Amino acid sequence: MCGIIGVIGTGQAAPLVLDGLRRLEYRGYDSAGIATLVNGHIERRRAEGKLVNLADALSQKPLAGTIGIGHTRWATHGAPTEVNAHPHGTARVAVVHNGIIENHAELRAELEAKGQVFTTETDTETVAQLVDLFLQNGLEPIAAASAAFARLEGAYALALIFAGHPELIIGVQRGAPLAIGFGEEAMYLGSDAMALAPLTRRIAYLEDGDWVVLSRQSAAFFNRDDQPVKREIKLTNLTGAAIGKGNFRHFMEKELHEHPVVIGDVLHKMIDQSSKMLVLPEFPFALESISRITISACGSAFYAGLTGRFWLESLAGIAADADVASEFRYRAPPLDANGLGLLVSQSGETADTLAALRYMKSRSQKVLSILNVPESSMARESDAILETIAGPEIGVASTKAFTAQLTVLAVLALGIARARGALTDTQIAALTDALLEIPAKAAQILINDAPIRALAARIAEARDVLYLGRGACFPIALEGALKLKETSYIHAEAYAAGELKHGPIALIDKAMPVIAIAPSGPLFEKTASNLQEAAARGGQIIVFSDAAGAAKLEKIAAETIIIPDIDPFAAPILYAIPVQMLAYHVAILKGTDVDQPRNLAKSVTVE
Ligand code: F6R
Repeated sequence: MCGIIGVIGTGQAAPLVLDGLRRLEYRGYDSAGIATLVNGHIERRRAEGKLVNLADALSQKPLAGTIGIGHTRWATHGAPTEVNAHPHGTARVAVVHNGIIENHAELRAELEAKGQVFTTETDTETVAQLVDLFLQNGLEPIAAASAAFARLEGAYALALIFAGHPELIIGVQRGAPLAIGFGEEAMYLGSDAMALAPLTRRIAYLEDGDWVVLSRQSAAFFNRDDQPVKREIKLTNLTGAAIGKGNFRHFMEKELHEHPVVIGDVLHKMIDQSSKMLVLPEFPFALESISRITISACGSAFYAGLTGRFWLESLAGIAADADVASEFRYRAPPLDANGLGLLVSQSGETADTLAALRYMKSRSQKVLSILNVPESSMARESDAILETIAGPEIGVASTKAFTAQLTVLAVLALGIARARGALTDTQIAALTDALLEIPAKAAQILINDAPIRALAARIAEARDVLYLGRGACFPIALEGALKLKETSYIHAEAYAAGELKHGPIALIDKAMPVIAIAPSGPLFEKTASNLQEAAARGGQIIVFSDAAGAAKLEKIAAETIIIPDIDPFAAPILYAIPVQMLAYHVAILKGTDVDQPRNLAKSVTVE
């Protein structure tokens, strides 16, 4: 979603800002822009579409100046045009903005009545016009910005520069994150530490409500009540280098190939390799005293959570609920006094998941988050976190972070089972053995990808695709359908296989591929019966199963993808990989922008 960067230094700001924007591209955007101060005056370059267009605009008409702000915009209010691209501003102030100003219509009416002349339909311009009015009324920039922040409602992060003030950037975090970078004779501000990684490792994070005044040498922090506060400078481990595609064509392809290493890293961290014992951190709550677990997340992370629910209930015998974060809090669900809130998020910034976390805290839940970004807002607000240590995930469609989430959830479920005495040590050791087999088997799938590529050619011709799964593999069917939709724009739906006959079976005809995630295991025969029903209606049955399962379905399967044998407990993690690979190869055949599919954002910081 929108990305913000700001630079004050001694050299030219625009190239650094453009480079920072490139590092924010992964969040998803549809226009971009930069503003600097040239001889004290605000100058802007903006462009619709990808950053290459902005880079062209800058090479035709370079921007001088040692201070600058930049933005990648994911359209919310107003189409993704150059006019609506940020920075917005007046002659006195320029603003970049991530999030939504909810009271923008009311502010706009008030400002227009006072003579401010708007040039766009965006909510962001109301911020610029409001600050502008305060400046015209004689306030200095810092006072004008603080007065404006007090009037804004919504969830947002902003960065502002002011004409005639070449040493001043003001930033604010109210619901969307901002990181501050400390350089040598330079200060930076960015939506995340990733954007700042090549510039500095010294990062401070604003707390929600904070605002910050940057000069070339310092940062002064204030809280929501305008009181000066201190924010700790931390050394980030992110490096400027950890962001290339290596020898791969796309980030998604590279990240798919990272599955074995990422899953292996998680297992290595959470399972002692010699004793096979689980290694969980000391939580600030006792696992055995938790009465119920409430899981919330969005998109793929939610599907990981659904799989986690299955494991928690079936292995640890603990009551668990799972709900998409955008719905969860609006039901005002009553939560157990000894309940644990469990959030799952790659970015740790997803607005709905963050709001679910806050709801859980307001209902006295202990909160544990499974996160890939340990420096994220959710990390700061959780009682405890488990890191997925998948490394930066740049492809907008989640791949390796998803299997890392599943792996963490699997080990957590075993840990809770152990704490509750629901499984014996021997049973746990057998299940950890099953998990430890995944990396090598994942590598086999990645190496032998020819059948998946061949299947992709068939799926690329389809208009609609149905995915089926049962038990812990139902969420993997959901993941398959989501990955296909988002990367290749083919309509796909996933159903619990037993639901097929309650409606979706009406869709089945010869043109409809029906992809079954059907590893051998306790639910295999049931899934097989549902596939017989689909085959009897002419559907093209495509089976993802092991050799034994594939043999049983040979007569009805139009195509089969053979997956290495795996214990049913570990199967969802392994089966997620070919399902994502299929989506990738279909997207390549369809020629879509696989790393940044249309309309999507990586870090969804609006509700
Ligand atoms: C799908 C995808 C999204 C994210 C969702 C949650 O491929 O990437 O569905 O899983 O937006 O994002 P995080 O995990 O950052 O909270």
